[in-house]
Amino acid sequence: MTEERTTADIVRVAAIGDIHVAETAVHPYRDLFAEMAERADVLVLAGDLTNHGKPAEAAVLAEDLRGLSVPVLAVLGNHDLECGEVAAMKEVLVRAGVHFLDENPCEIKGVGFVGVKGFGGGFERMMLDAFGEPAIKQFVSEAVQEAMHLESALRQVEAERSFVVLHYAPIAGTVQGEPPEIYPFLGSSRLAETIDRFHGQVRAVVHGHAHHGRYAGATPRGTPVYNVARTIEKEGGRAYALIEV
Ligand SMILES: [Fe+2]
Ligand SMILES: [Fe+2]
Repeated sequence: MTEERTTADIVRVAAIGDIHVAETAVHPYRDLFAEMAERADVLVLAGDLTNHGKPAEAAVLAEDLRGLSVPVLAVLGNHDLECGEVAAMKEVLVRAGVHFLDENPCEIKGVGFVGVKGFGGGFERMMLDAFGEPAIKQFVSEAVQEAMHLESALRQVEAERSFVVLHYAPIAGTVQGEPPEIYPFLGSSRLAETIDRFHGQVRAVVHGHAHHGRYAGATPRGTPVYNVARTIEKEGGRAYALIEV
């Protein structure tokens, strides 16, 4: 049966990752965010919001986000964990209206938005297994836990349509362009396996982290995946992606 949606049902998502805001920057994204908010119903930030996860960096970002007319949804990236000040930097952004999806999935205009940071481990047949040293098991366990967190968030969605936000890549297709030697640190197929268990419900996935990857790909079952890292060339030459759900 073909799903019929009117224009009014379509939710437009403007998404960007890896904005890496620096402490010394002066309104680095004010104009870009204003443009994104004008063209979309929701603004999504796919991790690496800051360079080192400092509250002072978050304050620079918060200034540029303040007063936007659309909801701002985000996940953290690995850079945001660098300083070990996650709670303080999140607090700055929450006060500026940012909604962190890893803590609370949310529904906007009939679309369930869920997100986690994700983790590495590699793709498909090359995926790292929990075998041998405790350090390897711990590494794999981190990826498994992120995938389980995503799964439980997707189960909570009551809406028919879901939109998934990650920092790490769920497929190899959108990291192509990066050196093959670093693929295991760019993402994990465990995330795609989870997404494909919700095939049909998940309408699109965005991620960042692979700054030199490729914009568009798909999970093994065909769910669209977009690498929205700021440096990736996107449709229309924009720094952000515009995705209709
Ligand atoms: Fe990044
Ligand atoms: Fe990253």
